[in-house]
Amino acid sequence: MATQTASQAPGPAAPPWEPRIVAFFCNWCTYTAADLAGVSRLTHAANVRIIRVMCSGRVDPQFVLAAFAKGADGVLLGGCHPGDCHYGEGNYKAVRRVRMLHRVLAEMGIAPDRFRLEWISASEGEKVRLVINDMVAKVRALGPLGLPGRFREWDREMASLEHTLQHPLGAEEVGAHAG
Ligand code: FES
Repeated sequence: MATQTASQAPGPAAPPWEPRIVAFFCNWCTYTAADLAGVSRLTHAANVRIIRVMCSGRVDPQFVLAAFAKGADGVLLGGCHPGDCHYGEGNYKAVRRVRMLHRVLAEMGIAPDRFRLEWISASEGEKVRLVINDMVAKVRALGPLGLPGRFREWDREMASLEHTLQHPLGAEEVGAHAG
């Protein structure tokens, strides 16, 4: 009877895909609300990595694009309610950027549900739980984004295109046409 050596034994099965969400939360409201949710034992899906920023207006569009480029399946931005921003109009700036980013992301084929802005005040721990769970469910339904893999594909396509442009006809082909 054939025996299986250790090197032939099947490795552990890859864990099932889980959505990865990056959340940029304003220090003064949504981050505090997330803290409150934790203290109040309001459990939410564990798929979110929270990054604290001082204001939703601090979130540069580059932060969002970098999160997607590095493998996030969704990005959540949380800020103070309109009129409550500690820096005056930071959250209005965030709204303008979110609108612009949704247009850019649409051009890249990224569904709008993958990038979301929510106003969540410091006392709204329950809203943090609801928003995170809802976003994880929506991104789960969309499936993995896989942008790092797509970037590698685009790089290969660009390299091949560049090669074609630099060498429009092979030397042999030129000779054959000249003959
Ligand atoms: S301080 Fe919270 S959004 Fe500006």
